[in-house]
Amino acid sequence: MTSNIILIGFMGTGKSAVSAELASLSGWSAVDTDVQIVQQQGQSIPELFAEQGEAYFRKCETDVLAQVLAKEQQIIATGGGAVLAAKNRQLMLDNGFVVCLFANPETIVERVSHHKDRPLLAGDARKKVVNLLEERGGAYDFAHIKIDTTKLTVKEIAEKIWQAWEQRL
Ligand code: S3P
Repeated sequence: MTSNIILIGFMGTGKSAVSAELASLSGWSAVDTDVQIVQQQGQSIPELFAEQGEAYFRKCETDVLAQVLAKEQQIIATGGGAVLAAKNRQLMLDNGFVVCLFANPETIVERVSHHKDRPLLAGDARKKVVNLLEERGGAYDFAHIKIDTTKLTVKEIAEKIWQAWEQRL
């Protein structure tokens, strides 16, 4: 397994915040696949979804994931839908330690309601979170470890992940 820690999980489970904390704890660089897509495409995520469509965004997501995973010693925060393509799941398992962050639906709704930059949650965010969580089912279950972020601080989560990485088989 190459030395990357890859954070997966539904929107609002804490991937970006934990990735920054874990990067400072480990000294590795923090990389966010959504940020890379926006930089490479020169459009925001809502613009990409509206103007190019979700399928185009998913293609960019796979391309960026492959580019990023060619390097090492990174804490990689992925978008919540990056797990949907089998090719992406394989790329992640082949190139890093995959950590799934999760939280209860109420916490997710509370966290995502502060931001308006998620096209899949536009409108009734509560309803969309519940539906998407159900639709995605066990899509995040391929991770090496899973952490419930509902009641933990960002620092506690980062420490747990670093400990698990150091103790991996
Ligand atoms: C998405 C999650 C978002 C972003 C896009 C689609 C998803 O990332 O990639 O809006 O399909 O779950 P975050 O999980 O960082 O919000």
